[in-house]
Amino acid sequence: MRYLIFAVIGYFMGSVPFSFLVPLFFGVNITKVGSGNVGGTNVLRNMGGWLGAAAMVMDGVKAFLPIIIARSIFGISMTEGMMIGFFAAIGHSYSIFLKFRGGKAVACTVGTLSALIPWYVAVFFGIWLPIVLITQFVSLGSVLALLLLSIILFFTQGTGVGLWMLAFFVLALFRHRKNVRALIEGKERKTDLIAAFKK
Ligand code: G3P
Repeated sequence: MRYLIFAVIGYFMGSVPFSFLVPLFFGVNITKVGSGNVGGTNVLRNMGGWLGAAAMVMDGVKAFLPIIIARSIFGISMTEGMMIGFFAAIGHSYSIFLKFRGGKAVACTVGTLSALIPWYVAVFFGIWLPIVLITQFVSLGSVLALLLLSIILFFTQGTGVGLWMLAFFVLALFRHRKNVRALIEGKERKTDLIAAFKK
């Protein structure tokens, strides 16, 4: 019963599509521009760095908040927290409010880390940022950072947390499958992070 409550709360919180709502507030349907993805990267690319960053943070809070609330009410373990965050990532990717469309799970993964093991948010960005700045491929940075984090967490936080991180990685990889194909074919969209913040 406890796990069902965690899964349902995580899923519904994750389903709130901030990367859809923020652009909509400014009259833009994010599904119709750029990659069409309901994610902070697509907001950043089309509407500027600050709005994109705001959407990413809000999408992260969707995972952060239910974990913090569940911890204060139920006193959850680390792996239970990972589970809540994972269901938030599922809700974000397959939102009940967007006919089961959605983003690519990365912001919710970072939100989960920030609630449970905040130091690893720095590890994530320590991998993600140089890759994105050098290659301008956000998808490559996201997928590689999550893969490396899964390996790092196995060794530093134990098998349970490592396995949950692997689940986050597999979900993100699946959601990025078109990006991976585009990367291989040399057709992936580039994102100039620095230029986006000057818009
Ligand atoms: O995390 C999302 C990002 O990696 C890719 O988004 O818009 O380039 O498909 P997009």
